[in-house]
Amino acid sequence: MTLQEKIGQMTQIELCVATFSDVRDLSIVTKYLLPPNDSTSKKAMPSDWADKVDRFQQAALDSRLRIPLIYGIDAVHGNNRFYGATIFPHNIGLGATRDADLVQRIGAAVALEVRASGIHFSFAPCVAVCRDPRWGRCYESFSEDTNIVRKMTSIISGLQGQPPVGHPKGYPFVAGRYNVIACAKHFVGDGGTEKGINEGNTISSYNDLETIHMAPYLDCLYQGVSTVMASYSSWNGCKLHVHHFLLTEILKDKLGFKGFVISDWKALDRLSEPRGSNYRHCVYTAINAGIDMVMVPLRYKQFIEDLTSLVESGEIQMSRIDDAVERILRVKYVAGLFEYPFSDRSLLDTVGCKLHRELAREAVRKSLVLLKNGKNPGKAFLPLEKNVKRVLIAGTHADNLGYQCGGWTRYWQGSSGRITIGTTILDAFREVMGDKTEVIYEKYPSPDTFAGQNFSFAIVAVGEEPYAESAGDNSELIIPLNGSELLSSVADRIPTLAILISGRPLVIEPWLLEKVDALVAAWLPGTEGRGITDVVFGDYEFEGQLPI
Ligand code: GLC
Repeated sequence: MTLQEKIGQMTQIELCVATFSDVRDLSIVTKYLLPPNDSTSKKAMPSDWADKVDRFQQAALDSRLRIPLIYGIDAVHGNNRFYGATIFPHNIGLGATRDADLVQRIGAAVALEVRASGIHFSFAPCVAVCRDPRWGRCYESFSEDTNIVRKMTSIISGLQGQPPVGHPKGYPFVAGRYNVIACAKHFVGDGGTEKGINEGNTISSYNDLETIHMAPYLDCLYQGVSTVMASYSSWNGCKLHVHHFLLTEILKDKLGFKGFVISDWKALDRLSEPRGSNYRHCVYTAINAGIDMVMVPLRYKQFIEDLTSLVESGEIQMSRIDDAVERILRVKYVAGLFEYPFSDRSLLDTVGCKLHRELAREAVRKSLVLLKNGKNPGKAFLPLEKNVKRVLIAGTHADNLGYQCGGWTRYWQGSSGRITIGTTILDAFREVMGDKTEVIYEKYPSPDTFAGQNFSFAIVAVGEEPYAESAGDNSELIIPLNGSELLSSVADRIPTLAILISGRPLVIEPWLLEKVDALVAAWLPGTEGRGITDVVFGDYEFEGQLPI
């Protein structure tokens, strides 16, 4: 391989800047991201994406060495960027299930829906141990408890397939063309930053870093996780992306990781102030620290130029480049990309299929945490009666699919409304109660709502609007959108079940808690709202336990 071909393998670029000729001539891997505002009215359909990826793959196979490219995506709770994909509960809800087998089955289902779109590589799972709910990525963490996170890493054996007994720890494993390359992220200590500040600084002893935040990575390595993403955050003031001790001496040498370490989005630009300045030095420190593939993702010509000059000057040894490329080729080989470089269109039927939606519904059921049931001891409020005369469904989150899916759904920051195919809480209650009961919906109930009407009970869904990453950092964990007042206005008049849709625990004052008859934490359940009615009407028991 020429130096350019080697560096091409280490370069991950964003779709919007990728050209077929550069992919062919520079044999570049690529990354996908819908334009942030997704301005085209056209929905992102998996079949369109399979066409797109296959065209780039052909360009890669037209290169001199015919090395296939890998295409990455943040499929963090389903193939969540695509319209019609099954959207599973976010990790915080899966942590509430404590069910490793369920989560492994979810991984296998997500892998099928990702491969259906022609994509081979998912930047998931996040195995952060969220120690402070003010962190904007709290919902991407399975739990504040390291042992729960360790258990939930079983999703890797779903995404990549179960490695055979005796599979050597640290070696990448991908079972076949119906699995994806997974990515344990963000190494290490992303969930332990001071005050939960995203991309902040984790201050701890090495022992605490190892026992709290690093432990889940061991479980990932035993399952053959193929890639690890470095964290934007720092440990005791040193950024992870330039941390030779943690990336190379610990992860690669001591723990024996033989896959590749990928940078986070534009993480090299964030190594300098102002961001993006002194880029050549950023490349120098990150690659020498142990970063193997760089999610550049836009100014890749600059990256290639700087890395080339760093190798030619001897500031980066060719042995470091060879190590990185060997790891990348190992993952591509293990993932079967040399045998099956193109998409398998027969998988398109799996996208949003009934089987996967039933699985997601099971996950919703098991994720619900019952926090209050009845005002008087011995007189439970739940399960609800199905055959009643009239009920009120209210609240900002009662009929909003985008809100119940949360961030990383269709769009990076998520969105509001009917953003994909799914069942809202209101849809679910209407389906269950049918025409026997008068179901009245008021997003913002007013005194008129109650005038002269007697309701058997009310369901009020409130919570957080979608967010992702730093946009979610929040030190005031009250229920947004006047959720407390909305809840109170209903609970003062009607027996009320409160459903909280949130990416983390929120503050509920005692005066409010006393007013509601029942309270359920539903986290960010995704598209299958029927999972909620399954439990509140008593068809299934509550099983969920607080993960934070
Ligand atoms: C983001 C996130 C990371 C994600 C990556 C690619 O900034 O930190 O979790 O995988 O960029 O979208």
